[in-house]
Amino acid sequence: MENPLNHLSGSEWLYWTNTIYSTNYPPDPTHQLRKKHGAIKPPELMAEIIAFFSKEGELVLDPFAGVGSTLLGAALVGRKAVGIELNVEWIRIFREITSGFTVGENGFIQGQGGRKIEGLMLHGDCLEELKKLPAEQVATIITDPPYGCQHRVDFIKETNFSMYNPGEEKDLGNSRGFVEYLEKIAEFAREAFRVLVPRRYLIVLIGDRYQNGEYYPLSMKVAETIQKTGFKWKGMRIWWNQATQRPLKPYAIRRCYVSNITHQNILIFRKG
Ligand SMILES: C[S@@+](CC[C@H](N)C(=O)[O-])C[C@H]1O[C@@H](n2cnc3c(N)ncnc32)[C@H](O)[C@@H]1O
Repeated sequence: MENPLNHLSGSEWLYWTNTIYSTNYPPDPTHQLRKKHGAIKPPELMAEIIAFFSKEGELVLDPFAGVGSTLLGAALVGRKAVGIELNVEWIRIFREITSGFTVGENGFIQGQGGRKIEGLMLHGDCLEELKKLPAEQVATIITDPPYGCQHRVDFIKETNFSMYNPGEEKDLGNSRGFVEYLEKIAEFAREAFRVLVPRRYLIVLIGDRYQNGEYYPLSMKVAETIQKTGFKWKGMRIWWNQATQRPLKPYAIRRCYVSNITHQNILIFRKG
């Protein structure tokens, strides 16, 4: 029987159904430029996900594109890609990458001399931009939205999240609370459902959070929200990249248990 989804063998497909997903990607040649963003993903990871959920030449969409790691992943495996991003600085960095780097014969990103990195980056609020796209034309949506609301400033007080767009109401990460954030995720998912080819997949990378001294299972809340828009929740992979693991932080040591959240969840949904 023909495989309608990808070019993988049975054993490659089986390997990919493991819920634990451990990788060991070192920083790639574009890392120095991309790391200004603060929440980047390895292009090799994105390439693996894209290779599972599409065929060569098909169209991949990332509506929360950042500096374009999904678009770089698509270039590695020969898929067309469109990204949408609110912050022009991240789009500028993506364009700097596409003019300075190429894909080598070994399938990795290198300097000049290889295959050109294509990929169209649209500037704007994806909740608006998605409405302008035609129905049922996108083979897969693979995206990494902001992880909740105001956590960077109000709770964690981390300053290394430079992806934060201060004062920009359209940034999902600036939602006034998780209720508003999840409403926007629902709005996004309804449009994602419309633009996807039937029976194809929406993949959402998302981390869990700590809030007011409790574990907040953001990935589960996002999954339930997306299910309500018509998608079937087909599975989840718990992803961890060993090579870029930051040291564990000593939260409340010998006082009370607090998790160091070192994984991210890759949520897998299907249209129909
Ligand atoms: C977690 S980051 C994505 C990072 C990306 N995976 C990468 O490796 O570069 C989420 C991105 O969503 C963008 N964003 C937030 N709200 C948006 C919206 N309404 N429309 C488009 N982009 C948005 C942020 O500016 C941020 O760059």
